[in-house]
Amino acid sequence: MSYLFGVDYYPEHWPRERWAVDAKMMREMGISIVRMAEFSWAKWEPREGEFHFEDLDEAIDVLAREGIRCILGTPSAAPPAWIIRRNPEIQPVDSTGRRLSFGGRHHDCQSNAVYRAHIRRFVTAFAQHYAKNPNVVGWQVDNELGNSHDDLCFCPSCEAAFRTWLKNKYGTVGELNRRWGTAFWSQDYASFDEVEAPKATVCGHNPSHQLDWRRFCSDLVLDFHKMQADILRAAAPDMFITHNEMGFSDKVDYRRLGQQLDFASHDQYPGGHFLADQSGRHIDWDAAPLDFIRSTMQRPYWIMEQQSAITGWEILGRTPQPGRLALWAMQSIAHGADTVIFFRWRSCVMGTEQYWHGILPHSGVPGRYYQEIAAFMREQGPMLAKIQGAMPKNDVAILFSYDQNYAMRIQPHHLDLRYTDHLMTYYSALMRAHVPVDFVGEEQDWSRYRVLIAPLQFLMTPELAAKLHAYAQNGGTLVLDMRCGVKDGDNIAISDDELPCRVRDLCGLTVTEYDCLRDIDVDIVWDGERYVGRMWADLIAPDAAETLAVYGSEFYAGTPAITRSAYGEGCAYYIGTQMSPALADRFVRELIGRAGLVPLAEADADVEVVSREKDGVRWLFAMNHTGEAKTAKTAAGDIALGPWGFEVIETKI
Ligand code: GAL
Ligand code: ZN
Repeated sequence: MSYLFGVDYYPEHWPRERWAVDAKMMREMGISIVRMAEFSWAKWEPREGEFHFEDLDEAIDVLAREGIRCILGTPSAAPPAWIIRRNPEIQPVDSTGRRLSFGGRHHDCQSNAVYRAHIRRFVTAFAQHYAKNPNVVGWQVDNELGNSHDDLCFCPSCEAAFRTWLKNKYGTVGELNRRWGTAFWSQDYASFDEVEAPKATVCGHNPSHQLDWRRFCSDLVLDFHKMQADILRAAAPDMFITHNEMGFSDKVDYRRLGQQLDFASHDQYPGGHFLADQSGRHIDWDAAPLDFIRSTMQRPYWIMEQQSAITGWEILGRTPQPGRLALWAMQSIAHGADTVIFFRWRSCVMGTEQYWHGILPHSGVPGRYYQEIAAFMREQGPMLAKIQGAMPKNDVAILFSYDQNYAMRIQPHHLDLRYTDHLMTYYSALMRAHVPVDFVGEEQDWSRYRVLIAPLQFLMTPELAAKLHAYAQNGGTLVLDMRCGVKDGDNIAISDDELPCRVRDLCGLTVTEYDCLRDIDVDIVWDGERYVGRMWADLIAPDAAETLAVYGSEFYAGTPAITRSAYGEGCAYYIGTQMSPALADRFVRELIGRAGLVPLAEADADVEVVSREKDGVRWLFAMNHTGEAKTAKTAAGDIALGPWGFEVIETKI
């Protein structure tokens, strides 16, 4: 059985007389699946061991009568008041030692044994109760794992778990001292018991210690998920397990989480949760997380929450203009969604999210959002049914690394330098050129990509260096850039080579000096045209590399800024700065010309064109993220697009 469209539904927020009305309206609209239950622990277990699933059973039956099936979420993102009152120690502690309170959500520590025992009791009962219910088809563990936990949890239980993790990794405390460089500022530890979580200090922190903490936090979330997934799998081996992920959010490594899932899901709120800017200018930031989530398991994903109206908590975003909700849903499909579940069915009358609107307004009377989403389901359902399982065949990949991201967050160098923003300079330029991309990880296979863009390869392990060499050796076009090959995997600067350490031969150059561009940009000159570089300037002494662009200002004016060096059957580019959009566009033209990339369309930058294919059929998606009519010239002909409009063209390949 496959599902096309769904909604997130909270029957416990509404009188039971309404449920049948909702279910009927859902079916008429084209909905065949709902996700429920992920925040209602207090209802299903009001007192320890006293389970009341009667209401949820009834809601599931009411939906089933209209042919609608369910995904159930385990409610561990919101432990009830009675648990918190009995075991206040499960409330999380931030880096300043402050314990956070009940009253919102995510008020939980994921390592705490007492909390885990509560979860085990609930999830076991929940799984056993629904394992044989034919109308429950899948599970979601918790909700957006990692959300709100960025500065959590530094409690004694997490600290103890961190020590165990370190013991497993290093074996002896002497090894930890060596790898963390604890000789600096007298940080040597005599035993693992002296090592703390990296809580707030008077001044500074050890970057190696911080990097391991972030790795540990990701492992902790994986372990927290696994504990629940194991119970669910044992009770209901035929049901799927997925998780509603959050794009580039980095608390947990989604590629590793994927090893526990049947497929990934993602929550998609275009415009970054609160749509402040109604223009289509953020399309790159809307699209990239979709490509990223698809890449984590290298298969199509589900959207578990697709924006269906105005978003808002205390402050509201703008209302989506007519056509926008459908366009956004199409964007999710175009990048790889097989099923789209809209958040939420009806705007909630109470609680924090009263203004995070649903398909239906508070009144329940269908309006513009309902009409638009219903028409979308009706018109696009047949296409979606055919396309399920189809994947893009992209020639370019961008390397996204959790470790590099962590290391750059620990030491951003420049106040405005962020790993993901930096990756996006490439992604956005490729998108403007209509060259679609995949993301890949260090461990994935890169060989099918013509071009691999590997920005900010700050931590350069021997294994990574070898893999980068092999990629170019075998004919790949590799793009490396600033802050490459600075440190080893322990976040200690490499000292037995010059920059870019371990890849100098590959790049055909040495970085002899660098300049952190605080409060200034630097000019870049390429073929007589002037552009701008930001954040950073590597001063480059080329040997085998040819110079493509030079700095045009500062004392290093006239020296190389962007180079290319042949290596094996392929080549490596090196970019010593963060490129401005115009410079990134120029660089993408270089790649198109020399690496033989074929753009999917000729069209304005705010017209997005991507594709998916399977079984000899290709679907080309052209989407107009503006309020004016546009045209996309493609190999399948010229495609006319109305304001906020889209077209899907099916061709044989
Ligand atoms: C998501 C979350 C939902 C809901 C929504 C609107 O992040 O998974 O439970 O909170 O945002 O705020
Ligand atoms: Zn904790």
